[in-house]
Amino acid sequence: MVEPPIGGSELTLRSPVATVGTGVRVGRAVPLTPAPRTLGNAAYAIIFAPTTVPRFVRDILGGDSPSPETRRVLPTRLVKLLTEDQRRPHTMVTVVFGARGSVGRHVAAGLTASGVPVRLTSRTPDASHVAADLDMPETLPAVLEGASQVFLYAKPAGIDEFVAAARSAGVRHVVLLSSGAIVQPGADRNPIARDHRVVESALQESGLSWTFIRPGMFATNTRWWWMRAIKEGQAVRLPYPEALTAPVSERDIAALAVTALTERGHGRQAYTLYGPQALTLREQVGHIGTAIGRPIPIEVVTPEQARADLGRTMPAMGVEAIMRAWTEGVDVVPETSVIVEKLTGRPAQTFAEWARDHADDFRL
Ligand SMILES: NC(=O)c1ccc[n+]([C@@H]2O[C@H](COP(=O)([O-])OP(=O)(O)OC[C@H]3O[C@@H](n4cnc5c(N)ncnc54)[C@H](OP(=O)(O)O)[C@@H]3O)[C@@H](O)[C@H]2O)c1
Repeated sequence: MVEPPIGGSELTLRSPVATVGTGVRVGRAVPLTPAPRTLGNAAYAIIFAPTTVPRFVRDILGGDSPSPETRRVLPTRLVKLLTEDQRRPHTMVTVVFGARGSVGRHVAAGLTASGVPVRLTSRTPDASHVAADLDMPETLPAVLEGASQVFLYAKPAGIDEFVAAARSAGVRHVVLLSSGAIVQPGADRNPIARDHRVVESALQESGLSWTFIRPGMFATNTRWWWMRAIKEGQAVRLPYPEALTAPVSERDIAALAVTALTERGHGRQAYTLYGPQALTLREQVGHIGTAIGRPIPIEVVTPEQARADLGRTMPAMGVEAIMRAWTEGVDVVPETSVIVEKLTGRPAQTFAEWARDHADDFRL
């Protein structure tokens, strides 16, 4: 990426300026005065600026708490101002594993929008994805060559070989998509938690810098559970319609990863991340219904029937994890998180917003 000139009293807006819901406008080097015209109708902005930002420009932007005057003229709701020295230097490539995955694809897009050179990987390569399989260590040295950072999915079987290949390629920082299961009670007996712990431990002992992103229940799970019934106009079958969960958007999980890969100060940090609201399963189905424009009926079934239903689209380990979370959600209000807004400067996506973004997934 060509570095834009910075200096004088011109604050330089580099990237990204994003409009919620319609993707990311990749920033160019543009003068930020007058700020309202430059920011247009963006819902939020992340701005890289020289350390010596003139005071009056800071005042115009208002940082995280814009003045009433700024609120009046500036439609942008949240402005995150980063000084140049808070930004990681990106002269080398960042390798993104799982770049077609629900989280990985947003990590790839977010890094690209931030001007970070990326190498996208897949087990089935094409013109945009190079071949890499974490279960086939011989594929790793080539894909890691010349890389300084990695976004990694947790694959315990090949993690030692990954660490060896990353070290010898000169990788400095690894951001791992881990799991909130690690910090839940009973983690020692939970195979999902154990698998992710193996990978975290290997990275902690690797000598590499690491950041762990530990999300709770993905909002995307609802596609696996309910998509087929909803598409076919059938009732969604639930064992505990009033069970609460706090589903987290894959976009927000990716946003934390991108933050950890583009800013300094996230080494040796583990971020546990839940959704911003606890909602009953009935409410979640309701939000999907609103998004697709018709009510979705709910049928209450036994836990055994629910297990069998889930088993049609999920492995047994996943089924047990979901049933455990739903059972707990009957009596316990699940944790919610504010970490997305804290680290990225913009609010986490609500489940209603997520459902609107994914409405087509639930339509025939
Ligand atoms: N679902 C939840 O509620 C939840 C909660 C917490 C944590 N998690 C964790 O999140 C991860 C799933 O994330 P997701 O939803 O983004 O997954 P996803 O959409 O199923 O995508 C998985 C990605 O991983 C890649 N992949 C699979 N096996 C690989 C291998 N051997 N080598 C290299 N790449 C491989 C796939 O790439 P190709 O197919 O292109 O090769 C694919 O892009 C899991 O690790 C899970 O434990 C999930």
